[in-house]
Amino acid sequence: MRIDTDQLRAYFSDAPEDIALDDVDLGRVPAHVSIIMDGNGRWAEARGLDRSQGHVAGVDALREAVTTSVRLGLDALSVYAFSTENWRRPQREVNLLMHLFATTLVHELPLFHQENVRLRFLGDLTALPEATQEVFQQGLDETADHTGMTFALAVNYGSRAEIARAARLLAEDVAAGRLTPDQVNEDALAARLYTTGMPDPDLLIRTSGELRLSNYLLWQLAYTEFYVTPTLWPDFTRWDFLRAIASFQGRSRRFGGVVGK
Ligand code: IPE
Ligand code: IPE
Ligand code: MG
Repeated sequence: MRIDTDQLRAYFSDAPEDIALDDVDLGRVPAHVSIIMDGNGRWAEARGLDRSQGHVAGVDALREAVTTSVRLGLDALSVYAFSTENWRRPQREVNLLMHLFATTLVHELPLFHQENVRLRFLGDLTALPEATQEVFQQGLDETADHTGMTFALAVNYGSRAEIARAARLLAEDVAAGRLTPDQVNEDALAARLYTTGMPDPDLLIRTSGELRLSNYLLWQLAYTEFYVTPTLWPDFTRWDFLRAIASFQGRSRRFGGVVGK
């Protein structure tokens, strides 16, 4: 994707000591970055605040991550906002999150217009409150013609549920005679995942130091590079994003092959 260099330099002026824009090769930025935004609760608790305040602060970090991704010219940014397991949280926190998703989306739509960002969702949205679903649909409709970066928000997303759903869709197609069993292959399954049409993530970032996937993109992350930072999500800035990309660019991706061949 095209980069506006002047805008980019201005955005990354005022660099901290250890990282600067020149530390990344702009010709080799990952096409798709995915983030497990974790640590909102701990961020709030460390400040004697309610966990909900951590989620509110997390929205600011997300806005910055979207802008950073656009400035760097990524094709896609996907983020894990609510897992199929997060329903186990106290009802009050779940309600707050559902409300926050809707109000944030309404608030941020002008940014998506301004930056030509196309929105999509990963997950089963039918279980969400009606009002949240309506706002999500509005976001999809209003950004459908945008041709810039894709921003994918994973809500009520669980990778096992996603893969089971894809298997069910394949079974239905076979039962209806639309597909033969030998046409059930990797491409056919991938086409029935929520991420259909998106390239697999090149880089997965997880904040707050946890070394697990928490049921996120199990299929899509097969050859993704991982970057885990102890930084809690509300503290994650454009500079942390650059650090992750610089680390990514120092890796040798082999995809099962041999270096340099
Ligand atoms: C991530 O922060 C946000 C969501 C899962 C919605 P957490 O709420 O998981 O924060 P911690 O992990 O408890 O600190
Ligand atoms: C993963 O974080 C889900 C999201 C970031 C939305 P969790 O905080 O729910 O994951 P666990 O429970 O620590 O594995
Ligand atoms: Mg967490």
